[in-house]
Amino acid sequence: MTTVLGIETSCDETAAAVVCDGRRVLGSVVASQFDLHAKYGGVVPEIASRAHIERLDGIVAEAIGQAGVGRDQIDLVAVSNTPGLVGSLLIGVTAAKTLAWAWSKPLVAVSHVEAHATSAAIDLAAPPWPAIALVVSGGHTSLFHVRDYDAIETLGVTTDDAAGEAFDKVASILDLGYPGGPAVERAADVGDPRAVDFPRTMLGADSLDFSFSGIKTAVLYHVHGHGRTSGGLERLSRQDVADIAASFQQAVVDVLTRKTLLAAEKTGAQTVVAGGGVTANRALRRRLEQDCREAGVALHLPPMGYCTDNAAMVAALGYHLFRRGRVCDLSISAMA
Ligand code: KG4
Ligand code: ZN
Repeated sequence: MTTVLGIETSCDETAAAVVCDGRRVLGSVVASQFDLHAKYGGVVPEIASRAHIERLDGIVAEAIGQAGVGRDQIDLVAVSNTPGLVGSLLIGVTAAKTLAWAWSKPLVAVSHVEAHATSAAIDLAAPPWPAIALVVSGGHTSLFHVRDYDAIETLGVTTDDAAGEAFDKVASILDLGYPGGPAVERAADVGDPRAVDFPRTMLGADSLDFSFSGIKTAVLYHVHGHGRTSGGLERLSRQDVADIAASFQQAVVDVLTRKTLLAAEKTGAQTVVAGGGVTANRALRRRLEQDCREAGVALHLPPMGYCTDNAAMVAALGYHLFRRGRVCDLSISAMA
């Protein structure tokens, strides 16, 4: 049995988790900083790093306490060291290096995006690879071909905004509040997804890359009038706003699902997994379930608690990389 302490501080969530053998989550604590960034309408990097410094010690202690293990029972420390806000990553990396050194335990660095890509496997009895992995978060929209935990090939990336970023910006245009994704989803719940025909940017029939800046601009012009960026929202009723939110969400879900299934078709993969904050979106989950069923492809989605940033996915991937010999020394650094 290998017990892993995972640490995650890549953006605005301070998280620690204790996971056994990459599967059994004994403790997982996530401290969100929404309250600190809400008035700025987005994450302020300097505030995020300072909050990580203040909170991380307590969060690690809480996760270990929740797990009910002694510190001497931790076999390995795993940390996400890339990509993310460099100041935020640095706090987690420094803490992980310090604990690994103080406890004389091995250290494993993981990619935050690859942790999202493999997060749906956390509950499974056997690894689902090979699979297509869709990662949809605030910073990334990517398709991967995952052959194993240490063999992850990028098939497509976003050429501009990430899907979560588009949700956040549309929430801001519609004045729905922060964080944007859940706010757009709540508004969309009572809206008509066919009300507005927003563009589905495919970048060519064969492309596995994404682009979401066009739809964001289309929402902006729809609200304010073509070529204008302010002054239109007051003319809209609550129902209009709900219809725009639902139509936007539908267009994004359409593109994400179609490209994911195209990737499965191109590679011959029989399994799809997904991860990242936007996989908490129920419309996306339903649509992936429906389309994968129709295509005869198996689908694994992360449990709700492991969609947005968390350290359980970091500890789980850390375990699998450790087993494949991917141990780091104390010279590792944070990479933006
Ligand atoms: O994975 P995550 O927690 O952080 C990054 O790695 O970026 O993803 C955060 C993103 C944000 O853009 C947030 O608006 C979006 O995920 N998100 C959602 C939902 N919950 C979070 N987007 C759509 N629907 C949701 N329910
Ligand atoms: Zn993330």
